[in-house]
Amino acid sequence: MKMTNKEALSWASLELKEACERPQYEAELLLAYHLKQDRIYLMTHDGDVLEDVDTYKALIQRRAKNEPYEYIVGEASFYDIHLQVEEGVLIPRPETEILIDLVADIIEKEHITRIAEIGVGTGAISIVLARKFPELQSIATDICDAPLRVAQKNIEILGLEKQIELRKSNLIDEVREPVELVVSNPPYIAEDFLLESNVLDYEPKEALFGGRIGDELLKQIILDVKSRGIKWLACEMGYDQKEPLSAFVNELGVKSIQFYKDLAGFDRGFVIEFS
Ligand SMILES: C[S@@+](CC[C@H](N)C(=O)[O-])C[C@H]1O[C@@H](n2cnc3c(N)ncnc32)[C@H](O)[C@@H]1O
Repeated sequence: MKMTNKEALSWASLELKEACERPQYEAELLLAYHLKQDRIYLMTHDGDVLEDVDTYKALIQRRAKNEPYEYIVGEASFYDIHLQVEEGVLIPRPETEILIDLVADIIEKEHITRIAEIGVGTGAISIVLARKFPELQSIATDICDAPLRVAQKNIEILGLEKQIELRKSNLIDEVREPVELVVSNPPYIAEDFLLESNVLDYEPKEALFGGRIGDELLKQIILDVKSRGIKWLACEMGYDQKEPLSAFVNELGVKSIQFYKDLAGFDRGFVIEFS
């Protein structure tokens, strides 16, 4: 059946009513993606007959089943860049930009040139930092193959091969070189935490769950970084992990720990300076 762009959008907005907070907006984004145009184009072409309606309908049906928009289009916008993403690799979240800004401040103040990242995902953190600091060298690990493959693609697209080296590793086990700072947005969600379907059904479990309580990997990272004599550690964490991590770190003994909040006012991470 033939449909104009306008008719297709009305149909799609209805289909997306349950799954999306902004169904009309997402219907437009997916139509623009389907037409390989931007959203503005739709405003002046709403009477055009839509070519290949079935392919557009298939995109909408995927979104209606809660598949994240970023997996459908294979791309996520993060900080000042676009990153390739696919199922099996965590979609980078806006709150991680706060972690990057905090780490950037330390790198600048302390003239740091060698860092490691644990759990590279799409490469979001190491890539943005490498673009900010052309002298910075990063060794970025992941325990899974899909993130390492996708991160490598992003690194190549952005021409950062000389600054970021990827390594398959549990935490920093395979990073033997001296580094001055470790950054990580590790899995930190408790095993039984009820996540929304768009996250739970589509995003990789290895990127989400940090153990039975959730903070197990974070604690192991703190121990590993301390035992390696690395001065700085900056991590993202869950909104309810400040208290247990604070107690853990006080017991361990560090020079300082500063917790930070996300834009919604939730505790979201910390920076440790080891003595
Ligand atoms: C929350 S995602 C973060 C991805 C990316 N850094 C970001 O901020 O978008 C956590 C990543 O850690 C990886 N990971 C999980 N356990 C790991 C481990 N023991 N050692 C290294 N990486 C691990 C996952 O595969 C996943 O890519």
